[in-house]
Amino acid sequence: MKFIKAANVGDIKEGEIKRVELDGNTIVIVNLDGEYYAISDTCSHEEASLSEGELDGNVITCPKHGSRFDVKTGRVLSLPAMFPIPTYEIKVEGTDIKVAMDN
Ligand code: FES
Repeated sequence: MKFIKAANVGDIKEGEIKRVELDGNTIVIVNLDGEYYAISDTCSHEEASLSEGELDGNVITCPKHGSRFDVKTGRVLSLPAMFPIPTYEIKVEGTDIKVAMDN
């Protein structure tokens, strides 16, 4: 596992999200009260981009059928999705937001 720079701290304001292509994965980085979280951009139900959904606190809602996910854990909070979405470990070094990738 290695940490790859995905964004700068100033790129994502509190309560905002940023979609990033990283090492062949499309991920969403979320800033929740100054803490950063990263999840897969692809909904676990069908093909839909979660970065196009609504963020409300720690909950992101899929734009296609409305499943909700906890961005901190990837857990599904409402149907029709039944499976969690992948989460990625993050660390901040200086002004760099780095995301852990499996390779
Ligand atoms: S594609 Fe996300 S809930 Fe259906």
